[in-house]
Amino acid sequence: MSETVNIKYGDTSLDLPVITGTENEKAIDISKLRASTNGLVTIDVGYKNTGSTTSAITFLDGEKGILRYRGYPIEQLAKDADFLEVAYLLINGELPSQNDFDTFKSDISLHTLVHEDLKHFFTAYPLNAHPMGMLCSLICSLSAYYPDSLDPNRSDAEKNLTVVRLLAKMPTLISWIQKKSTGHPIVYPDNKLGYVANFLRMFFGQRTDEYFTDDVLVDAMDTLLILHGDHEQNCSTSTVRIVGSAHAPLYASIAAGISALWGPRHGGANQAVIEMLQAIHNDGGNIDKFIDRAKDKSDPFRLMGFGHRVYKNFDPRAKIIKVKADEVLDKLGIDDPLLEIAKKLEEIALKDEYFVKRNLYPNVDFYSGIIYKAMGFPTDMFTVLFALGRLPGWIAQHREMMEAGQPIGRPRQIYTGSNERDYVAINKR
Ligand code: CMC
Repeated sequence: MSETVNIKYGDTSLDLPVITGTENEKAIDISKLRASTNGLVTIDVGYKNTGSTTSAITFLDGEKGILRYRGYPIEQLAKDADFLEVAYLLINGELPSQNDFDTFKSDISLHTLVHEDLKHFFTAYPLNAHPMGMLCSLICSLSAYYPDSLDPNRSDAEKNLTVVRLLAKMPTLISWIQKKSTGHPIVYPDNKLGYVANFLRMFFGQRTDEYFTDDVLVDAMDTLLILHGDHEQNCSTSTVRIVGSAHAPLYASIAAGISALWGPRHGGANQAVIEMLQAIHNDGGNIDKFIDRAKDKSDPFRLMGFGHRVYKNFDPRAKIIKVKADEVLDKLGIDDPLLEIAKKLEEIALKDEYFVKRNLYPNVDFYSGIIYKAMGFPTDMFTVLFALGRLPGWIAQHREMMEAGQPIGRPRQIYTGSNERDYVAINKR
């Protein structure tokens, strides 16, 4: 017999159905609540208790530190899979056969070039423009070159082409953003190379020299992209879904996701972590002082890279990244004092009652910045790299939302402003 939750409101008694997911997660289905109770709605600021959708893409259990894409544990994917394989998995629901994977990769290679006219955008940006602002506008602007893609309800072939274009062109655009900041000429894609190697060559290479990709760096970057691939209904993904639910073009929905990701409480934390570690270093390495500041409620400072809305035990991505950070720094022979500060900070915070009581653990962004820094990425590029990793997740979630025929996202509110009052002429106020 299906479970229900009974609620009583005035004279109304209502049995609300409980829906159960494949991992036995349960939710009260309130879709008939308002109609059955003459206007009663629920309120849950920040959606701490509210599921916005059912989804078959990512499962995570924050208490147990579990993360799986389409059922596959993140640890296995990070160790054995390749980023484009994971992208295929997220978007299509299954791991590709060799044949399907070859076609997917060659389709992406075919679309790595970006319309030359898009270069003109860069003359308008100042040298110190933040890469996230540029990425957001460039991705939205891609829609201008593909008018057939504006309607997200088009044919499957056209929908797939938009997905391939996004995956193929994002690395090229990111490397153009980098070249703008250094004033160097752009490096065109080399389609003989794999996705990550090609990106690193366009980003770090110069037209004047041959660029040799380093397998250690390609592997580290590939792992980081996989770890960021999807994370169920987080702030940017929910944004992609809600913008997409208005049937805006996919390019616009992804651009909205990029905007949400920019914030330091979300993807922007990887940049903020390095800035914080640098500030601790510059201040003479007094970690306790910064821990005290994080605990002080009158100080807006928070330990960046600590805490997570859903992980209340540990973030499985942080565990993998911590090991990778050691590997990369070791192999590159880099002795980064910030890594030492990060490790000490983690050690102290994990024993501190304030952090223990609130279940605050290092999250994915605590160590990712250390790796990006060691690889030579500028700090303000870190969130852009997060966006590149999250792109397949956003696409998968958008596709799932469209295929489910989800109605437009439109929450209710409880109005707390003035009751009706008469307009007062300006000379009488
Ligand atoms: N430093 C100090 N105190 C913290 C921190 C922190 N990093 N994070 C949470 N708290 C405290 C917070 O002040 C509150 O204390 P109290 O109960 O006394 O009021 C309590 O812990 C619960 O925090 P919250 O803000 O209600 O929790 P939330 O679920 O709304 O926020 C968070 C989650 C990630 C926004 C928050 O932990 C935070 O701001 N962390 C730092 C930024 C960061 O690293 N973000 C990256 C998240 S991982 C990447 C991604 O997936 O986006």
